[in-house]
Amino acid sequence: MASQLRFDGRVVLVTGAGGGLGRAYALAFAERGASVVVNDLGGDFRGDGKSSLAADKVVEEIRRKGGKAVANYDSVEAGEKIVKTALDAFGKIDVVINNAGILRDRSFARISDEDWDIIHRVHLRGSFQVTRAAWEHMKKQNYGRIIMTSSISGIYGNFGQANYTAAKLGLLGLSNTLALEGRKRNIHCNTIAPSAGSRLTQTVLPEDILDALKPEYVAPLVLWLCHESCEENGGMFEVGGGWIGKLRWERTLGAIVRQRNQPMTPEAVKANWTKICDFDNSVKPQSVQESTVSLIEIVSKINSEEGVSSNQTSHAASTATSGFAGAIGHKFPPFSSAYTELDAIMYALGVGASVKDPKDLKFVYEGSSDFSCLPTFGVIVAQKVLMDGRIAEIPGLSINFAKVLHGEQYLELYKQLPRTGKIQSEAIVADIIDKGSGLVIIFDVYSYSGKELICYNQFSIFIVGSGGFGGKRTSDKAKLALAIPNRPPDAVFTDTTSLNQAALYRLSGDWNPLHIDPNFASLAGFDKPILHGLCTFGFSARHVLHHFADSDVSRFKAIKVRFAKPVYPGQTIQTEMWKEGNRIHFQTKVQETGDIIISNAYVDLVPTSDISIKVPPESEKLQSTFVFEEIGRRIKDIGHEIVKKVNAIFEWHITKGGNTAAKWTIDLKNGSGAVYQGPAKGSADTTIILSDEDFMELVLGKLDPQKAFFSGRLRAKGNIMLSQKLQMILKDYARL
Ligand code: NAI
Repeated sequence: MASQLRFDGRVVLVTGAGGGLGRAYALAFAERGASVVVNDLGGDFRGDGKSSLAADKVVEEIRRKGGKAVANYDSVEAGEKIVKTALDAFGKIDVVINNAGILRDRSFARISDEDWDIIHRVHLRGSFQVTRAAWEHMKKQNYGRIIMTSSISGIYGNFGQANYTAAKLGLLGLSNTLALEGRKRNIHCNTIAPSAGSRLTQTVLPEDILDALKPEYVAPLVLWLCHESCEENGGMFEVGGGWIGKLRWERTLGAIVRQRNQPMTPEAVKANWTKICDFDNSVKPQSVQESTVSLIEIVSKINSEEGVSSNQTSHAASTATSGFAGAIGHKFPPFSSAYTELDAIMYALGVGASVKDPKDLKFVYEGSSDFSCLPTFGVIVAQKVLMDGRIAEIPGLSINFAKVLHGEQYLELYKQLPRTGKIQSEAIVADIIDKGSGLVIIFDVYSYSGKELICYNQFSIFIVGSGGFGGKRTSDKAKLALAIPNRPPDAVFTDTTSLNQAALYRLSGDWNPLHIDPNFASLAGFDKPILHGLCTFGFSARHVLHHFADSDVSRFKAIKVRFAKPVYPGQTIQTEMWKEGNRIHFQTKVQETGDIIISNAYVDLVPTSDISIKVPPESEKLQSTFVFEEIGRRIKDIGHEIVKKVNAIFEWHITKGGNTAAKWTIDLKNGSGAVYQGPAKGSADTTIILSDEDFMELVLGKLDPQKAFFSGRLRAKGNIMLSQKLQMILKDYARL
């Protein structure tokens, strides 16, 4: 069982703790070891009068149970005095719960100045005064947890509560800023909008509802948010009756309603109104930066587009305002193409396979008994889905193709490439990252032969000069390049490219004139046409396979490279390799100059012992196997974090033709997690049964788990609620 969240040694101040919600918090904190300051002015619910009775009673109750508490009877407007009570009694202040509150409900027209002011003084100014008094102490000790109490009336508005709702939403603004200012000092501030039976609500809610909404059903959230192990900061939660939900802002993609050098008119606003208010494909900005960046993008877009029609502008707006949200997740239309032995041979020659090397004969001669496609031909079948201007059609991105560089490449094969084939590829913009000097677009491409997933590619494209938009610097979607070991290489292989190497390689489908046309190359700033990065990639992969796998293509699993510099046809490519188990790290240099052209690269080989498993007869092969293996690998890297979030064991029964064909376990409960074949060691919290095909659809986001459950395609046993967490696992960790 999870250990109890304790507050021993912590000093907690709860305002308005003489009754209702505040009392519940004070009791709960004290019960878990905190020293509590019970503040309450003791007036009536309108804020009239005062008494020490309310606070004293709660202090008495805590002490009777063996807890530590002192009373304070000041109004929250005297924040300094209340915090001083904490310092005098317990020597410090760790947690502040701004809870005190009153009501002065009246319809808007009848609100007096006093009704307005007193509500603001108690709720907004009171929270400010108390928190400010505690702030410096929290900063000094590098620790603090603060709660602001808002209200669903504040969030959504409520008849007769204009004064209260204005103050309550003001508290959210205050909290959002404190969350930012306090972050560095480990001071977290969160907001709750509780619903509970108390004297404030007893006149507005029916009795049976009041009974169901006990203050004790709100307190656990407050305790968790204020625990030292809770990382939540700047969150906003609705809570009541045993339910808790988180809120955030949502914004439509919007529309540009202005054209360059033209006045902006209300008519243009009217004309675009549906689009301005259309929440389809909305975005969820989380900071002023995220919000402003898109604004700056829009302005520069308007300024760079002369005479655009209203339709075009609104399209541009929809993408620019999105902060690339319109682009991220963009799916390209699937693309099918067929290849024959001729294409495979042409590719092999393009990446330097030669009859000089007897091991290469099978790549260049269709009559060889073991004729094979080079594994890296997998990029060729996939890249077509991104070519022919398709990248230019990504919404929200205007790409200057003269500034495009191929940054990194990852390829993983799930099956040997057949000698001829018809491949359908599906591509998606997985993410966009800001590298300062440029932006990186990450494309995930899945290639199928029939329904079978053959390979997965990740293309990282660098657009020089488009960075610095305040976007994130890294992406958890990116396959990472890895540093080479710090020792001399275990093997080095050199290969001289021919002057016609690029001319030959381009016949495999990359027709970019940069690689053949001297004029074009000089426009792009090169002395002469350069070799394709993916050509060097093919050379290096061939070298690794030759050295460490006897050119056996069934040993190839995956490759990752980072392109560092160009190579000119005719130069000698030198691949330096390091063996670390089944992973071969490598870097590739131009021998003549010593320049590194591919860095931080590796090839993953299939262990020899697994070959029989890796290439089972077609009919028996389960696609889910690769996904589980991939989840396993990812969990190895970041398992600890997910175990904390999920805390459950899932057992999977994968069926084929109606029979269970494999069992897998994803253990996200123990240690830093594990994925293994077979039933759960111990017992599973949830067992999920579905076919291999449906599993793949689920992982690829084509099958909704809830719908699959209700339609009977997916069956679940055990704790079914836990399976909701599956969506998280599938979404974040099973992306192939
Ligand atoms: P409550 O009336 O039972 O508790 C509020 C406490 O604050 C009272 O004990 C009162 O004496 C004290 N207080 C009032 N003015 C004070 C001041 N100037 N200085 C120090 N103490 C003062 O009400 P309840 O329901 O427990 O409310 C707690 C907080 O939760 C309030 O901020 C309220 O606005 C908020 N809230 C409550 C909801 C509910 O469903 N109960 C709904 C939304 C928000």
